[in-house]
Order: sequence, then structure tokens, then C-alpha cells
Amino acid sequence: MNAPAYNLPGVTSVAAPQAQTVNNTAVQDTGARTVAQVMAQTQVQQVMDALDRDLVGLKPVKSRIRDISALLVIDRLRLNLGLAAQSPSLHMCFTGNPGTGKTTVAMRMAQILHELGYVRSGHLVAVTRDDLVGQYIGHTAPKTKEVLKKAMGGVLFIDEAYYLYRPENERDYGQEAIEILLQVMENQRDDLVVILAGYKDRMDTFFMSNPGMNSRIAHHIDFPDYKEDELAQIAQHMLTEQNYKMDEPAQQAFAQYLHLRKQQPHFANARSVRNALERARLRQASRLFADPHKELTADDLSTLNAQDILASRVFQQAKG
Ligand SMILES: Nc1ncnc2c1ncn2[C@@H]1O[C@H](COP(=O)(O)OP(=O)(O)O)[C@@H](O)[C@H]1O
Ligand SMILES: [Mg+2]
Repeated sequence: MNAPAYNLPGVTSVAAPQAQTVNNTAVQDTGARTVAQVMAQTQVQQVMDALDRDLVGLKPVKSRIRDISALLVIDRLRLNLGLAAQSPSLHMCFTGNPGTGKTTVAMRMAQILHELGYVRSGHLVAVTRDDLVGQYIGHTAPKTKEVLKKAMGGVLFIDEAYYLYRPENERDYGQEAIEILLQVMENQRDDLVVILAGYKDRMDTFFMSNPGMNSRIAHHIDFPDYKEDELAQIAQHMLTEQNYKMDEPAQQAFAQYLHLRKQQPHFANARSVRNALERARLRQASRLFADPHKELTADDLSTLNAQDILASRVFQQAKG
């Protein structure tokens, strides 16, 4: 399996001509002496505003991202005056249940790091254990190094990072990947930021058995589950993005849907919302398709009604 490289739409690397890789040997003064000047030289404010605007809720997460950004802006000013001793450790750990926005926020973080010159390119390479660890002896090191090569100059996002460590299997190759990662996280931290992600409890256990990894992670950010009203707002955001809407009865049905779905197995926060809307769109299409001679207005084509929501299996399962 190949590691997919993500790029944020609308925010590209051309946005920061003055960004350069920051390290202790060759730091260039960008001339900025005030916070406002750093902000004006970069798109950091724009990325943070977009984060605020595009993502519902996540208050504690957004405030941590702002804190980290502030640290980096000040560090940038220190660099300009020759004050910085060494590049700050920026490796992070994002914990939370599936669909709470970890991958999405990691992509924004990559952009912020790039705008401020902490990584050369701002791309994010998302991987899991299978991308790093080989099946046979001698396969792991080249696999891990290949991924690191792709991620260099950007962010390496390791989803469910704890699967790298399998204590029940004495000869597990995951350990080899961890050791290579640890070295790079220490020695090339001015060119690569690693973000580990996964469930909080499993990550805590992982760190207990891997203190070396724990000590290299500077920022731990916890992503809370969304509340029902936040999930409803997320649905609105997603629909608006795609030029769809729910009529009033559909909105009420969807609130019920969320309430039921949340209690059922494999609920995955915003991801479940996205999937539910996709299925509702399919039902809307079948509904419209069934009446081939009806002239369809823009409103017909963009409105999900209560039927489209209530036909979900979630309602039958709740009854049964
Ligand atoms: N706060 C939010 N507001 C709007 N959309 C969100 C929010 N959080 C997550 N999403 C959307 O939900 C989906 C799953 O999010 P993702 O970042 O992949 O979660 P995770 O990595 O934690 O599993 C994505 O399509 C993302 O755009
Ligand atoms: Mg994810």
C-alpha cells in the first residue's frame, strides 16, 4: 500500500515565498520585528481563520493550535534577532475517537508549520503500520526509510501509531520502525514533524512502553467527541459545501438520527455524519429518479427531505 500524500485545497506552497527551513546553522532574518509583521509575511492568520471557520466545535483543539502558532511566531522573531538556541520540538500526538477531526487538523497544522518556515513544503504523508513495517526480515528498514523520504520537508502522520508496538510478539518488526523513527525525530527535527494519532487509552499504553517516543512528543492534543448539536452543525457545513440542504422536517429527522446512531456500534463522529449524508443523497436521487417526467427545479435537486433520512436502517435497528 502506498502512503497517500494530502494537500490542502486552496492553500498551496506558493503562498509563502519567504518561508525557509529553520535550523540553527542557517537562519535568515525575515526582517519581521513584530507579531503583526510575521503575520503579514505569512498566511498563518488565514490558515487559523480557515480552521476556525471550516471546523465546527473543537474549542480546546483550536486553542492549542493557536498556542502552538503563537510559540512559533515568537520563535520566528527570536530567530530574526539571533536569539534561538535550537529549533523547537514540534512532534505531536493527536488522540481521540475516530472521526473527531485529527487528520483534518493535522493537514492544517502542516500548513501552519510551512507558513512559518518550520517545514519546507507543508505536505502531509499519512501512514499506518502496514506502510512502515515489512512482513519479512530486512523489509522494515527500507519501507520506513522510503516513507520518511516522502515525508521529509513536511509532516508524517502515523495513524494508530500504537500498532507499531506489539509486545505479545517478541520478534515483531514494528520495533525496528520505531527505532528508525526515533532517530529521525531527534536528528532531523528541523525538516520533519511527526504527528502520532489514535485512541487515547491505547496511545497512553504505547507511551508507557515506549518512553523514548513519549519524550520526543512535545505537544499532546486531545480531540473530544462531538455533541449531538455539533454533529448537526457539521452536517449543515458538509451539505452547504456540496450545494445541498435539508428541509425543516429533514433536519428534525436528522437530529433523531444522530441521537440513535450515536448509541449504535461503530459510531465515528463526523465520519458517520459524512457517510449518513452520502446515503441520504443516494436516497434523494432514487426518489427523484422514480418520477422521470417531473421537471426538477434547483430546489428539488438540492433538498434532502425527511423521507431521505427516515429510510435509514438506523431507525429500524433502533426499533428492533
Ligand atoms: N469539526 C469538524 N467540522 C466539520 N467537519 C469535520 C469536523 N471534524 C471532522 N470533520 C470531517 O469529518 C471527516 C472525518 O474527519 P477526520 O479528520 O478524518 O477524523 P479522524 O482523523 O479523527 O478520524 C472528514 O471528512 C472531516 O472533514
Ligand atoms: Mg484520521
